Amino acid sequence: GKKVILDVDTGVDDALGILLAVKSGEFDLLGITTVSGNVSLAQATENTCKILQLIGAEHIPVVRGASKPLFRPEHFEHRVHGKDGLGGALRGMPLHKHPSDGYAADFIVDQVRRFPGEVTLIMTAPLTNLAAALSKYPELVRDVKEVIVMGGVVSSFGNVTPTAEYNMYVDPEAARLVFQAGFPSLILVGLDVTRKALLTEEHINGLSNESIREYVRESTRDYLNRYFERNGVRACAMHDPLAVGVALDRSVVTMKSYYVDVETRSELCDGQTVCDFQNRLQREPNVQVCTEVDAEAFLDMFLRVLDA
Ligand code: BDR
Ligand code: CA
Repeated sequence: GKKVILDVDTGVDDALGILLAVKSGEFDLLGITTVSGNVSLAQATENTCKILQLIGAEHIPVVRGASKPLFRPEHFEHRVHGKDGLGGALRGMPLHKHPSDGYAADFIVDQVRRFPGEVTLIMTAPLTNLAAALSKYPELVRDVKEVIVMGGVVSSFGNVTPTAEYNMYVDPEAARLVFQAGFPSLILVGLDVTRKALLTEEHINGLSNESIREYVRESTRDYLNRYFERNGVRACAMHDPLAVGVALDRSVVTMKSYYVDVETRSELCDGQTVCDFQNRLQREPNVQVCTEVDAEAFLDMFLRVLDA
């Protein structure tokens, strides 16, 4: 399988992304790295371990990373993901899986050096760990196979501020470092497409794997209600799972190459992903932006894998 490192701040949709990545059986998952984001680093790490317990995948290493963004304070999202980040779904689960020794940025560098040209990084959280890895080992740009980032939005509104998507907003300096690093393949899976990949109650009810179905139902309950208040649909936007989906099957999205940068010095627009659609800046494209998604094909794949 494709060698993958998944970087998460395990909230509701990260957890669904982990389930998709592990249960697909298509990846050689070298490890899952955690970072402060939706919840604290400690909580994200605990949630990640519990999700692996849920599916008997305790053998996958979990490695802790940054406990805060590069230069800014933490910015949790308890209103979206609940107090514990999983909508309370695994509250009663005893914890027996623990993180490995080591630090996420080091882990990323070590694995990429061990398998040059082979590792895909799937980032579904603020980009702090990858920025730290890059400053430690700039050759990462050359040695990594590709980077798939859930983050940003280029043709629509933000989900934290009017212009910014959460993962970009929380650590815009890290995002900027990553965008400007010069990766030969950097794919951006933003709200433009993830907002179209919606998991509904009908989808959840249709799952036949009981433990998975009950977990998904429980963890998304409050999320669905909040999404309804904001967007008028009772659904869970599959932000992070779609990034994993793109790693599994590129054909679920349409991508176009553009120059994209991240705003870091604005009163109103910090974290905004600015996409140069008309090449006004005359720069080489640095990002493959997902512009369209075949939501049905993606959800079919997601549900099939979760049900297995
Ligand atoms: C992103 O923000 C987080 O709250 C989600 O887990 C996802 O990674 C969506 O904007
Ligand atoms: Ca996330």
